[in-house]
Amino acid sequence: MKLPEVDRVLLTSEAIAARVREMGETLARDLARDLTAEGHGALDHPDRIVMVPIMTGAMVFAADLIRTMPIRISIRTVVVSSYPGASTTSKGAALRGALPDDLRGRHVVLVDDILDSGQTLGMLSRMIREQEPASVRVCVLLRKDVTRVEDIAADLVGFDIPDEFVVGYGLDYNGFYRNVPDIVALRGEHLDEPTAG
Ligand code: IMP
Ligand code: MG
Repeated sequence: MKLPEVDRVLLTSEAIAARVREMGETLARDLARDLTAEGHGALDHPDRIVMVPIMTGAMVFAADLIRTMPIRISIRTVVVSSYPGASTTSKGAALRGALPDDLRGRHVVLVDDILDSGQTLGMLSRMIREQEPASVRVCVLLRKDVTRVEDIAADLVGFDIPDEFVVGYGLDYNGFYRNVPDIVALRGEHLDEPTAG
């Protein structure tokens, strides 16, 4: 896909695929260890592991990640919006729709595309911990080099990137570009957010 509005490619689809495979293997190994400690098999346990992809940004990442994990998992998506409309700065996270309510005692893996201000993962991990799960892991493909509004530590990170607005591989600008296979930066003139102040 050759889009005129792309400034440059930060991560190619090949680099992403290789890293996602490593992440899935690491995650599956860690979760299998938890299952073993409980006396369960990686493929034989009663819904101990719940993956929670945060829609819509984590859709592409989660779809690839889960297929590299050779263990039994179930999936409950949550929908959060934080960048309404043509915005490149977080307006704070808001849950849209329901949170799964059966996480008590289970191992939960929150999956998101990117850790930016930390408000999305901060809000969700707080809400999920209220249900007293056995564990909560935070897995993100990208971590932006910014001072976070909420100091959230990710357990598994694909790539650290500079403080720049990126799209592709699930990440959008104003709803578009999620289907771009690479992770790219757009030219400034295509990011027409009114400047603050
Ligand atoms: P946070 O709540 O500020 O950490 O933002 C997390 C959410 O904002 C992510 O799930 C993304 O959907 C979105 N986001 C943050 N940075 C970017 C970006 O550079 N491009 C596209 N979406 C982003
Ligand atoms: Mg998101």
